[in-house]
Amino acid sequence: MSLAILADHDLTAANTLGLTCRAERLVGPANATELGEALLLAREAGWPILVLGGGSNLILPAFLPGLVIRPAMNDWWLEEVDNGSVRVHAEAGVVWHELVMALAARGLWGLENLALIPGRCGAAPIQNIGAYGVELAEHLEAVHLVHLDDGREAVLAPDDCAFGYRDSVFKHALAGRVAITRLVLRVSRTAEPRLGYGDLASRVAEAPAALEVAEAVCAVRREKLPDPAALGNAGSFFKNPAVSAARAEALREAYPDMPSFPLADGRVKLAAGWLIDRCGLKGWRDGAFGVHDRQALVLVHHGGGDAAGLLAFAARVAEAVQERFGVALEREPRLATE
Ligand code: FAD
Ligand code: EPU
Repeated sequence: MSLAILADHDLTAANTLGLTCRAERLVGPANATELGEALLLAREAGWPILVLGGGSNLILPAFLPGLVIRPAMNDWWLEEVDNGSVRVHAEAGVVWHELVMALAARGLWGLENLALIPGRCGAAPIQNIGAYGVELAEHLEAVHLVHLDDGREAVLAPDDCAFGYRDSVFKHALAGRVAITRLVLRVSRTAEPRLGYGDLASRVAEAPAALEVAEAVCAVRREKLPDPAALGNAGSFFKNPAVSAARAEALREAYPDMPSFPLADGRVKLAAGWLIDRCGLKGWRDGAFGVHDRQALVLVHHGGGDAAGLLAFAARVAEAVQERFGVALEREPRLATE
């Protein structure tokens, strides 16, 4: 076997929260054969498996037993479909932001609003990444994957993926059971700017190029979100909650400036960042953890903390929101141990 398995590997720099973590074993398969070998080894030895991407939506424990698989298949290529659109094949290890910028630079439209989202392509379907009014699912044609328990390969169509807001089948029936190996995405040669979110429209010229939109999105994000290289974080720590129309109306009466967005199913989505902010918690710090001072939905790690400390801190934030607004917040990043 040619597979290089690293023992007792430090993952502290491999998760954007910067939590100290050692993996019992780590492997970075560079192709399907190596991935198959790794799965066979794990199966025979009975090792639990965690598939790791960029570690930007994961809460890691101090020690991860078994085998961490970090796909290192890093190619992407284009396939002409017709004059109007192009298929993009992106392997699991491709850095999402680099792909988005490369497509935008070629004048291919569709993913530019998803610029600067950290992580790898393989993880993008897990929570159906979204930002600035666009979700991955709108541009996804297929997900290629391998089942961890028997190495079986499969290709899922979008309808098989049960995509929702920050949700998919990969968080439910297939949670922890597959390694996504490749995405097939669809982008367009026709200009399709989506500028309706926030002040995006005012940040670009009329009839902008795709790259200009991507760069504007990057600029907004840099103003609000902490750079994980400088301050540990996993982006939004909670999902934006959906409440009944009646509940939203009652809250709006009490708080007329509260942001709210009607959903297709009749419920109303609230801005968790606004709720946390209104509890007076923006910038609040207790020991190793804090609420970011420019975006209250982002919890930050100042160093020296662990997963239990982060969860306890997050629980206090959620309790404050529950007490003040009667709204429950749900965690967004996945606990590696759940
Ligand atoms: P990881 O954190 O490594 O893994 C996340 C989950 O996916 C884990 O359960 C892991 O086991 C699983 N996984 C990873 N790779 C695979 C694979 N190949 N096959 C199967 N399972 C896999 N998210 C948004 O949606 N919108 C945003 O705007 C956004 N902004 C962010 C900003 C910051 C500063 C940060 C730190 C995070 C942000 N996120 C955002 C969250 C995060 O970037 C995304 O969820 C991203 O897709 C995670 O990718 P990753 O490679 O880092 O995944
Ligand atoms: N707000 C405040 N105070 C704050 C934060 C936000 O009042 O401290 C208000 C804003 O003024 C705005 C509203 O809340 O009216 C929404 O804020 P923002 O536009 O910053 O977006 P968000 O809802 O907090 C979501 C995603 C982000 C994504 C942005 C842009 C979730 C959980 N988060 O954040 O995704 O980048 O929209 O589309 O849906 C992530 O998932 O990790 C992530 C960063």
